[in-house]
Amino acid sequence: MKEQEETIILAIETSCDETSVAIVQNGREILSNIVSSQIESHKRFGGVVPEIASRHHVEQITFIIEEAMNEAQVTKEEIDAVAVTEGPGLVGALLVGVNAAKALAFAWDKPLIGVHHIAGHIYANHIVEELTFPLLTLVVSGGHTELIYMSDHGTYEVFGETRDDAVGEAYDKVARTLGLPYPGGPRMDKLASEGEAVIDFPRAWLENGSYDFSFSGLKSSVINTLHNAKQRGEVWSNEDIAASFQASVVEVLVTKAMRAAKEKGVDRLLLAGGVAANSGLRKSLTEACQEAGIKLTIPPMKLCTDNAAMIGSAGTFLYWSGIYANDRLNGQAGLELK
Ligand code: KG4
Ligand code: ZN
Repeated sequence: MKEQEETIILAIETSCDETSVAIVQNGREILSNIVSSQIESHKRFGGVVPEIASRHHVEQITFIIEEAMNEAQVTKEEIDAVAVTEGPGLVGALLVGVNAAKALAFAWDKPLIGVHHIAGHIYANHIVEELTFPLLTLVVSGGHTELIYMSDHGTYEVFGETRDDAVGEAYDKVARTLGLPYPGGPRMDKLASEGEAVIDFPRAWLENGSYDFSFSGLKSSVINTLHNAKQRGEVWSNEDIAASFQASVVEVLVTKAMRAAKEKGVDRLLLAGGVAANSGLRKSLTEACQEAGIKLTIPPMKLCTDNAAMIGSAGTFLYWSGIYANDRLNGQAGLELK
């Protein structure tokens, strides 16, 4: 194995609707991180269409690999390993990245590394500031809402997760009800900042101090409120609906994360996943952590949403630990984080 100071990883991420390739040095330094978004192609359908996503990945992947190598100014000889998101995600989309990574690893005779997508989101924080343990991560993405405890690199204890809709999914569905285009999360966030949380939507705390999450009841409550208002001829502004919805989401996320941090005795908290871009959540969690004396790390916007640099960062630790995949590596839609 190479000295840790000179590890260069080529990483690929194609789990959903971004085709991304990055070159990452020593797990923290981004030499390039090219992200090609397909949002425009999915917008008219109101969400990601798996077949279209796969087709775009196929069309894009070789160009994006080339662009990432050019921008980083590295040659294939300088690359130590090829890392790729193996799951979870859309299986047809994952397969494009996995097969591209396998082809490169085979042709260049480099180790192949399979990375869990959520591990990637967590390691986006390592790019910002070196991880120290133990720590707790609040993962908030389009597919996941989870509380994860880590005692060291590569160890994940998931002790709270969503029972129905993930938080990003709830944002997108409510946004759709309000007639906003996909992806609705960022638009809801903007509207929320312009409105008042005047509607008291429910908070799903769940039984016996559970650390699980549930957002489908909140989503239904928003839909019912809109429906009833329409029948009565009342009008709620989209701004106030968004602000009230966001107030409920943020209160539950922040309260559970802070309670979990206290119970686990950690003084370090990370925020990860696409919804980490949410300004209301960032603000509220920052204030709560300041009050509790907990060090909080939040990735910058471009590392919150799907990108390959985060996969490269997580992949670097697997490389250093000698945890390699073989040529049977496959895309796994429901891969668990262990
Ligand atoms: O992590 P991510 O890029 O993809 C998954 O792995 O799922 O997360 C995408 C999700 C979408 O649901 C999107 O609406 C949401 O993150 N999102 C936001 C914001 N920016 C992105 N949700 C709320 N507020 C935002 N500012
Ligand atoms: Zn993601």
